[in-house]
Amino acid sequence: MCGIVGYIGKTQKGADIVLDGLAALEYRGYDSAGLAFLDKSNAIVVSKQVGRVQALRTALTQTKTALSTSTTIGQTRWATHGAPSITNAHPHYNADRTITVVHNGIIENHQELREHLEDKGYKFVSDTDTEVIPHLIDYYTHECKTFGQAVEKSLGKLRGAYAVLVMTSKQPDTLYAARLSSPLVIGIKKDAIFIASDATALIEHTKEVVYLNDYELATLKQDGTYTVKDYKRSLYINRDTETLDYDAQESNLGNFPHYMLKEMHEAPDTIRMATSGRIRLQNNTVKLGGLESVADQLKYIDRVVIVACGTSYYAGLVGEYLIEELAGIPVEVQLASEFKYRNEPFSRGTAIVAISQSGETADTIAALKKVENYGVLRLGVVNAVGSTIARITDAGVYCHAGPEQAVASTKAFIAQVTVLTLIALHLSQGKSPLFKPILNELAALPAKTEAILAQAEAIKKLADKYKDYNDFLFIGRTYGYPCAHEGALKLKEVSYIHAEAYAAGEMKHGPLAMIDESFPTLAVATDSPVLEKTLSNMQEIKARKGKIIAIASEGNTSVKKLASDVLYIPESPEQTQPILIALVEQLFAYYVALANGHDVDRPRNLAKSVTVE
Ligand code: F6R
Repeated sequence: MCGIVGYIGKTQKGADIVLDGLAALEYRGYDSAGLAFLDKSNAIVVSKQVGRVQALRTALTQTKTALSTSTTIGQTRWATHGAPSITNAHPHYNADRTITVVHNGIIENHQELREHLEDKGYKFVSDTDTEVIPHLIDYYTHECKTFGQAVEKSLGKLRGAYAVLVMTSKQPDTLYAARLSSPLVIGIKKDAIFIASDATALIEHTKEVVYLNDYELATLKQDGTYTVKDYKRSLYINRDTETLDYDAQESNLGNFPHYMLKEMHEAPDTIRMATSGRIRLQNNTVKLGGLESVADQLKYIDRVVIVACGTSYYAGLVGEYLIEELAGIPVEVQLASEFKYRNEPFSRGTAIVAISQSGETADTIAALKKVENYGVLRLGVVNAVGSTIARITDAGVYCHAGPEQAVASTKAFIAQVTVLTLIALHLSQGKSPLFKPILNELAALPAKTEAILAQAEAIKKLADKYKDYNDFLFIGRTYGYPCAHEGALKLKEVSYIHAEAYAAGEMKHGPLAMIDESFPTLAVATDSPVLEKTLSNMQEIKARKGKIIAIASEGNTSVKKLASDVLYIPESPEQTQPILIALVEQLFAYYVALANGHDVDRPRNLAKSVTVE
């Protein structure tokens, strides 16, 4: 979703730095882009475009002043209030353009504030909720002694979620940045400060960062100094910097045409990174350093509730099967957006596990906040290091998949399922008879994902064959059931083809009615104790002239007798098959989308990091 970037420092490259930062945040999804800078006479200049950051860059290269700017703020907007248009694009400003603001999130009480300001004579030009902020600050500058106090007072009036950057011509050597439920990270370098929605936008310049927490206002100075104030508690905060543990190159496309393809090709390394230092084959142990601080509490856990959204939710469903089977602890998986509005009883023996690639998903954060005072253990399975979910949970296990930039999650799902397997093994305390075989299999999986990637051409051929169907059904049983869901989600989000997922056993309870020759099914029919049942479901589909693409285990001979086409995964225990099945499904969805000419990395209407509810 929206991304914001700001720069203040001694160089005159502010516009370039912010444009590069916005380009690095393009993966989050957006429909317009804009920036504001102070010109030589410290007047605010604003430039906005509908469409890509490149269009903004092109427009700016024609403005000579933009080539030598210092303090600059910019934003990529994903429309919420008001259509994508130049007027609604950020930055927004007050009437005399002395105050300008970029904002991520939603100001829930914007209507009320707008009416109040209109009564005071303020005129609005856009349909956005954001525009109330510069006017409100303007209003309070007449009441407050300093501009900083006016910013702080205005923040106190805003409800909802925000990450905001405020720039003013009244104080050209200062930028203000504040957050509530929307991420902001400050990058620190000698004589320069960078600020952005996520570290991808600033890692090219520095690895030293400070994450802002809710209700914190940072005052950033041109000489590279800054202060952070908790404006709710009126306290100045002294926070140590953290060092980012990845490089700018990891965010680059390299020789791949798309991030989605690059990230699927990272599957072998993703598994290696997620298991590195955590599995000890010699002495049959799993070591999860991130859970050590809560080891005593974990001993008394009698219920696990997993909360997540989208692909992370489906990873959670795989986790449910794994933790129940390996550790014998009952698990429930809930959509974070539903969880937060439910009134269900909790005991102290419950552990809430939030799964999130970005660590910034608003619904998942809200779910964790809901149980803040319940006395339950809150754990995270998060990819983005230092993200909000990583910081607000009591403990957790990082996925270590590196930055994921394609909107469709691929390697993060693989990392999440790998980590959930480790957690299930850890919770089983070595007692499950499956402990050793699965531990060994985790070490063997990278090579098996390589074998799947080597079949990319065959998967592409199949995608070309099926690209024109309007509907797809995905079915599976037990560990294959979450895979059916994840496969359907991947196909619909990148190819826009209608795809539904069902537990194969549900076919006769309704979905079978849809089946005819125009409605193909992708059946997860890998080797497992329930394969025969799935084969019966495939028989029923075939009898109704339904075409079937099956995903089967290598060496199996019965599946191909029923399926129109078969894709094989290397043999693996059913508990670890989801990692391999998902990769096949991801490649299939990618090639269908490509064959249909879609922008696979940035599917329409979607954003990577869903920071509003
Ligand atoms: C689908 C996809 C989304 C995310 C969901 C949760 O490919 O990427 O469904 O999985 O928005 O995001 P995170 O994991 O960042 O909380």
